[in-house]
Amino acid sequence: MLEIINFFGTIFMAMWLMLPAYIANPMAVVFGGGPPVDMEMKWHDGQRILGGGKTIRGFVGGTACGIAAGLFQIYAASVFDIPIVPTITAVITLSFGALLGDIVKSFFKRRIGFVRGAELPIIDQLDFVAGAWILTYIFDPVWFTKYFISSPWIILTVLVLTPILHRLTNIFGYNIKLKKEPW
Ligand code: CTP
Ligand code: MG
Repeated sequence: MLEIINFFGTIFMAMWLMLPAYIANPMAVVFGGGPPVDMEMKWHDGQRILGGGKTIRGFVGGTACGIAAGLFQIYAASVFDIPIVPTITAVITLSFGALLGDIVKSFFKRRIGFVRGAELPIIDQLDFVAGAWILTYIFDPVWFTKYFISSPWIILTVLVLTPILHRLTNIFGYNIKLKKEPW
């Protein structure tokens, strides 16, 4: 019984800790459109720097939604006495870092000749986690160490859970015609 509670407790905690990033990433799809981040400029290889899938609106809208979710967490934690609470810095770096990771991924995807929307398994699903973690580790190492570095189970749970959640979200996004591909 205790094992079951621990199992779901760990999953719940992982999702709570990652919430700003988990909101920012899909919200970029919702807000996406308009001018691309790379302004349609090309790299030396003749390919787009980032591609048409990375837009300013998606980037700003996604980041803003992630930050809003994180501020809500801070508020909820104070009202309901939730012991695990993100810092303002972590809220910003988890959201901004998520979409920065997504953009860096697209840069390298274009360089290896993958067209916009082509599937790159694992990397497409964990790019935003890497961005969120790296930026948070740089700007709030104390918070990041407390909840992630010192709890390898949380890291492992995020790495296993994210591709599953990502896939389910994208199938949903594809079905409601928000996304061009179900991945
Ligand atoms: N999107 C956006 N701006 C961002 C990120 C995403 O507008 N910064 C929107 C785009 O409409 C994009 C969709 O969300 O097509 C899905 O995002 P993603 O899968 O990350 O982009 P892809 O189109 O697959 O492009 P890439 O091959 O570069 O990953
Ligand atoms: Mg994609």
